[in-house]
Amino acid sequence: MNKLLLREQIHTAFESFKGAIKGHGDINTKRADGGWTVGEVADHIIKSTDSNFGRTLKTDRPYDLHAIAIKTLFLDFTTKFPTANILEPDERKYSVIEMFAMLDNNKKRLFEMIDTDDLTETCIDIELPTWGSLTKYEWLVLIENHIIRHTHQVTDFERVERQKDQPKSMHGKFLSQKYWNDFYTTNDISWDIGFPSPPIKEYIDQWQDRKSPILIPGCGNAYEAEYLLNQGFADVTLIDLAPTLTATLHNKFKSEIGKRLSVITGDFFDHEGKYQLIIEQTFLSAIDPLLRAKYAEKMHSLLVKGGHLTGVIFTKMFEEDGPPFGGSVEDYRNIFLPRFEIKQLQPCYNSIDRRKGSEVFINLIAR
Ligand SMILES: C[S@@+](CC[C@H](N)C(=O)[O-])C[C@H]1O[C@@H](n2cnc3c(N)ncnc32)[C@H](O)[C@@H]1O
Repeated sequence: MNKLLLREQIHTAFESFKGAIKGHGDINTKRADGGWTVGEVADHIIKSTDSNFGRTLKTDRPYDLHAIAIKTLFLDFTTKFPTANILEPDERKYSVIEMFAMLDNNKKRLFEMIDTDDLTETCIDIELPTWGSLTKYEWLVLIENHIIRHTHQVTDFERVERQKDQPKSMHGKFLSQKYWNDFYTTNDISWDIGFPSPPIKEYIDQWQDRKSPILIPGCGNAYEAEYLLNQGFADVTLIDLAPTLTATLHNKFKSEIGKRLSVITGDFFDHEGKYQLIIEQTFLSAIDPLLRAKYAEKMHSLLVKGGHLTGVIFTKMFEEDGPPFGGSVEDYRNIFLPRFEIKQLQPCYNSIDRRKGSEVFINLIAR
């Protein structure tokens, strides 16, 4: 268990939540669909980030058994959960200063818990439906993803206002495994260009060390991996959430699996490893923009110092609600700058025709 990472994840969740609150001039107005005010959402988060988990016992199962399921459930924004009575916000006027002080206090107490407690122990006083009693570690995963869920709610006010009379969009289905897998079972993969992307191919061509560990997250049909193998690269890892896709990849690359290639079915955000090169193509655009800081942080943690995150990212905004989610050069610079030296973040001169003028080439070096 990486306690430092856990601390940083909790910190990022609280700070992003506060950042989302700051985006509202008035925190006491109901959302356009009648949902909680921003102040009420904050009160709910304050009530649910209380770190008193009661009595604990030694755990006789993996301490993180439910972590992925918890995260998947909380980040599936299409599902609505009932709120437990004790976590219902009070109906009153709130002030930002008061809310921030209480949020900071709860964060501080969670940090103390991370620093001092044995997080593998099970909290026996609270039982949840489906999972039963959680370990302290799992509670922290729940708290982090619960905050992310409500950060989404707080940043969603404008969209709800805009869309209150429009048909339901796809927004909110990203990150669910089923959501992505359905594209592959129905062969509805409009992002798939059918060959290695020319800018990435050109970059690979100048990479000398054939033994460098290379990762392609959200790999899709992984034409770049095929190219890498054909060029003699010896340590390539692919990860994608969609099991139908990874089954196809296992079959397509069967002679290389376990030798020069690993294919992992799973969530990039849970992946552990160290790479010299990570290749990005239409993966960032598949991730909720609220998770971009987390994406940059995760990419950084997967790279050796001096390792490269390279590829192409969209610099246009899409008319429809995403995915794909677009962005601007400025957005990306802000996200990456804290952790990466930006060697290149510039218009891509060799994009495929249909993406010309709408993507930038990135070559970022992990500090
Ligand atoms: C838009 S597609 C791009 C696929 C490929 N990079 C390409 O350009 O053809 C996004 C891919 O990311 C995968 N994906 C989405 N979220 C993921 C996550 N959290 N972890 C791993 N893969 C994910 C999806 O299953 C999908 O294959």
